[in-house]
Amino acid sequence: MIPLSVPFLNGNEWKYVKDCLDTGWISSAGSYVNQFEQQVAAYAGAKYGIACMNGTVGLHIAQMLSGVSTGDYVIAPNITFIATLNAIKYTGASPILIDLNPKTWQMDLNLLESYLKENTIEKEVEGIFYSFHKLTNKRIKAIMPVHVLGNIGDMHHLQEIATTFHLDIIEDSTEALGSLFKGKHAGSFGKFGVFSFNGNKIISTGGGGVIVTNDEELAKKAKHLTTQAKVSAMEYIHDEIGYNYRLVNVLAAIGVAQMEEFPVLLENKKRMDQFYRSELSGIGDIEFQLVSPDVEANCWLFTFKTQHMRELLSYLNDNGVQSRPFWVPMNQLEMFKEDIYVSMDDHSNQVYQTSISIPSSAGITLAEMETVVKTIKSFYSAL
Ligand SMILES: Cc1ncc(COP(=O)(O)O)c(C=O)c1O
Repeated sequence: MIPLSVPFLNGNEWKYVKDCLDTGWISSAGSYVNQFEQQVAAYAGAKYGIACMNGTVGLHIAQMLSGVSTGDYVIAPNITFIATLNAIKYTGASPILIDLNPKTWQMDLNLLESYLKENTIEKEVEGIFYSFHKLTNKRIKAIMPVHVLGNIGDMHHLQEIATTFHLDIIEDSTEALGSLFKGKHAGSFGKFGVFSFNGNKIISTGGGGVIVTNDEELAKKAKHLTTQAKVSAMEYIHDEIGYNYRLVNVLAAIGVAQMEEFPVLLENKKRMDQFYRSELSGIGDIEFQLVSPDVEANCWLFTFKTQHMRELLSYLNDNGVQSRPFWVPMNQLEMFKEDIYVSMDDHSNQVYQTSISIPSSAGITLAEMETVVKTIKSFYSAL
C-alpha cells in the first residue's frame, strides 16, 4: 500500500535521540526543546516559539492567552480538523462557523464580513472595544483562520476584518509550516500561530506543537501556562491553574533533526504537487484546489475534487493507494449542530462530498507517484 502521508526520518533523528538517551535528558527539560522552539519561530518569522505536546493544546493556550473565555464566540471555518473546534470548546467559548470559498477551500471572507456587519454591535467594556453578537449578546473575541491543506486565504483582508471587529487572530497554521502569503509566513499574521508536528505533518516529532508569537509577555505566559504555572525553580509554588502541556526533550530532539531536513522536504512536497497537477490535469472531472498567486503553499496533502469521490476512494484503497475523504463539515457533527453556521450555499458540504486526498508523504518516490497516477487514470478510463 502506498501510504497517505508518513514521516520521513532520514537525518540526525537517531543521533539526537540517542544523545538524549545517553545523557538521560529525555524528559521535560533539555536543550533540544529550546533549540526546536527557536528553529520553528525563526523559520516562521516570529520572535518566540513555545513547544507543546501537540497542536490542539497549543490552540487551547493561544485562546486562553487571547482572553477567550466562557460565553465568548470564536470564528472558525466550517471545514477543518476537529481539533480547531475542540480547542474552542475547551475554553468554554462557542464557534461561529463560516462556510468556505468553494475554490480555495479557505474561510469565505466576504461572507464573514457581511455577516459581522449585519449581526454585531460594537460595545466598550472597561475602556476596550469589542464586537457583540446582536441576537445573543455574546462577545466575539477571536478569529481562528485555518490554513487548510497548507493553502492560505487573503490574510490582509482577514486582518482588516479583525481590526474592524476587534478580533484577535489566532492562526491554526498546524498544516502550513513553510506556506507564505505575499512572502510572509503562515502563523505570523496575528497574535499567535500554532504548528503541529503529528505523524502526518510535513515534519513530525511523533506528536508535538509549537506556538509562535512576537509578543514577549505572551510568550512568557505561554511557557508558564504550559509548564504547570510554576514560579520558582526550587519551591513548588504555582500562581494559577497551569497545564502539563510541555513537549519532552526526546521528541524535541526529533524535531531539531526534522527542521534541519525541512528545506529538502518542502522542495519534495512542491515537486510532488507539480507532478500530480500536470499528470492529473484534464483527467475525468478532476478539479484542483485553487492556490492564489499571492500564496506559496507548502503542498502538504494533495487533495482534489471529483463527483466520483466515493467510488474512486474505494477503488484506490482496494488497489494499493491509500486515500482518504475530506473532513466532515463541523456543522454536521453532533456536538456543533446547535452552533451558528454562516452559509449561503453550503459549499462545505459540496467540498466534503467530492474531495479526496491521495498519497503525499514528503519522501514519496517518483515510482510511487506514477503508480498513484496510473491507478487514478485506470479508474477514469473504466468509467
Ligand atoms: C487543521 C488542524 N488543526 C489542528 C490540528 C491538531 O494538531 P495535533 O494533532 O498536533 O493536536 C491538526 C492536526 O492534526 C490540524 O490538521
